[in-house]
Amino acid sequence: MDVLQAIQTRHSIGKVRPDGVPREVIEKLLDAAVQAPNHYHVRPWRFVVLTGNGRNRLGEVMAQSMKARFPQLNEEALDRERAKPLRAPVLIIVGVDVPSEPKVLEMENICAAAAACENILLAAHALGLAAKWRTGDAARDPAVKNFLGFGEDQPIVSILYIGYPDMIPDAAPRPGFEDRTRWME
Ligand SMILES: Cc1cc2nc3c(=O)[nH]c(=O)nc-3n(C[C@H](O)[C@H](O)[C@H](O)COP(=O)(O)O)c2cc1C
Repeated sequence: MDVLQAIQTRHSIGKVRPDGVPREVIEKLLDAAVQAPNHYHVRPWRFVVLTGNGRNRLGEVMAQSMKARFPQLNEEALDRERAKPLRAPVLIIVGVDVPSEPKVLEMENICAAAAACENILLAAHALGLAAKWRTGDAARDPAVKNFLGFGEDQPIVSILYIGYPDMIPDAAPRPGFEDRTRWME
């Protein structure tokens, strides 16, 4: 699949089979990620790969954190939160380094990490995998960051859910670039 075809035909797929993904395939995704451009070659991305029980452990952190924030919630709601990381066999969480020198801007590091995320999505698609980029409250939750080994000031730009597809994606046509583009000479 060439890169333009991959870009045009990639769609988020949220429903995946429970089958695991071989480690060498996950490593191909990470290898694609680190080909992304980044300013000053700081490689600002940090990846946490969660599989197996790691997903349950994250779900427990998310549920406990939710309970602390909303003590009135019932067990059913907490169970729903607990189950979220189980929606795919592989989660790749992408965090960003806080710049350590003034010439490196946080915004540029975030852009680089986001480019790494898109590389993962495209590589997953090219390898026949399904993927969905999510964030939500969990990505901003200090308890989640702490569990994953991130500092509170480190942004999490994505929680990528990855597995083998179990649905045909909604391939609704995407609006074109025309109304978002101004040509200047
Ligand atoms: C930074 C970012 C955060 C996102 N967070 C969520 C999310 O939490 N939940 C969700 O359903 N979609 C989220 N999305 C959007 C989907 O992953 C998806 O890209 C969007 O629905 C468009 O579908 P497509 O990927 O098939 O074009 C996010 C996308 C980005 C770029």
